[in-house]
Amino acid sequence: MKIGILKERRAHEKRCAATPETVKKYIGLGAEVVVEAGAGVAASISDAAFEAAGAKIAADAAATVAGADVVLKVQRPMTAAEGADELAQLPKGTTLIAILNPHGAKEQVGAYAAAGVDAMAMELVPRISRAQSMDVLSSQANLAGYKAVIDAAAEFNRAFPMMMTAAGTVAPARVLVMGAGVAGLQAIATARRLGAIVSATDVRPASKEQVKSLGATFVAVEDDEFKQAETTAGYAKPMSEAYQAKQAALIAENIQKQDIVITTALIPGRKAPVLVTEEMVKSMKAGSVIVDLAVEQGGNCPLSELGKVVEKHGVKLVGHANVPSRLSADSTALYAKNLLNFVTLLIDKESKQLKINWEDEIVKGVALTKGGQVIHPNFQA
Ligand code: NAI
Repeated sequence: MKIGILKERRAHEKRCAATPETVKKYIGLGAEVVVEAGAGVAASISDAAFEAAGAKIAADAAATVAGADVVLKVQRPMTAAEGADELAQLPKGTTLIAILNPHGAKEQVGAYAAAGVDAMAMELVPRISRAQSMDVLSSQANLAGYKAVIDAAAEFNRAFPMMMTAAGTVAPARVLVMGAGVAGLQAIATARRLGAIVSATDVRPASKEQVKSLGATFVAVEDDEFKQAETTAGYAKPMSEAYQAKQAALIAENIQKQDIVITTALIPGRKAPVLVTEEMVKSMKAGSVIVDLAVEQGGNCPLSELGKVVEKHGVKLVGHANVPSRLSADSTALYAKNLLNFVTLLIDKESKQLKINWEDEIVKGVALTKGGQVIHPNFQA
């Protein structure tokens, strides 16, 4: 059984799908591991470190995937229109495992089937306890939440903690976190550690206790709709226009007092909800900072720009692309471990071969295509 680890070629992507630690484990499971030269460099992993762990280094992508049973990547393969046709290089019958973004790139799901590639999208791992160690959304969002606060602090021209000095008192920064999921909760904890006064908002009632337990104040419209805003999968539902109007009024009142706003609100498979309007930005103090972690899904603030830090109405808007990749060593280590835990599920311990149980709840959740067909119910034409 051969596992190929490709180098990522997309802009802003510094992560890698394996680490020397996971390579060793794959070899222990009976696999031969081939890593494309330079695949780990942007995550501070040298080819020599992969070789020392037992991997073979291949000079290019074609040699990495030739004859591979499994190909591991971070992001979905590029198409010819995007630069290099990475999908065309994959051998027929390969199982491709990556963050495939099937909602954002629906048309590519059919292309996997046409290429005879069995594609598995890691972001679709169901949120059940058995799959927690494979949950790439959580492992990456946690790091993004931390980094958002660090990025905000770097752009902010004031301090976070209160400082009482002989020359006067420095007031503590006020931080509002919008969306208290995995990223938001880590942002709250990080901002608190830096000494800020933190408040947070969400539409899921379960988030209230979590926010409070981290020492932040919870700000939300807690009406009947709020009480039913969580899906059985643990995600937020899209809220009604009436709710959004009430929520906007409450945020408008609060946001003027904030120095830093970190937005993380997402709804799976949809455009991110707009939570910070241009009017709200105008009402903020000069020098305030907004970090929009939802910028890749359209943004929680219409003024933020993907991949840029811009200043509008005296407020800095931080819209870095691929925030987990900005902590590439940690995000690689956690992502690679998520993949290892998932791939272990697909390998038969006795024969040391790939033996996929297509009826397994986790496999069913992630499998987009099989044997030339689109099999995931949400992506069939
Ligand atoms: P996410 O990344 O999809 O969304 C981020 C946050 O934005 C969520 O908390 C969501 O409720 C919030 N949001 C959406 N629309 C909003 C709006 N209009 N206004 C304000 N906030 C809004 O969610 P994430 O972080 O991936 O996870 C959500 C929850 O799922 C977690 O807090 C947790 O309870 C649960 N979870 C369960 C896991 C498991 O059981 N294995 C693993 C990870 C998370």
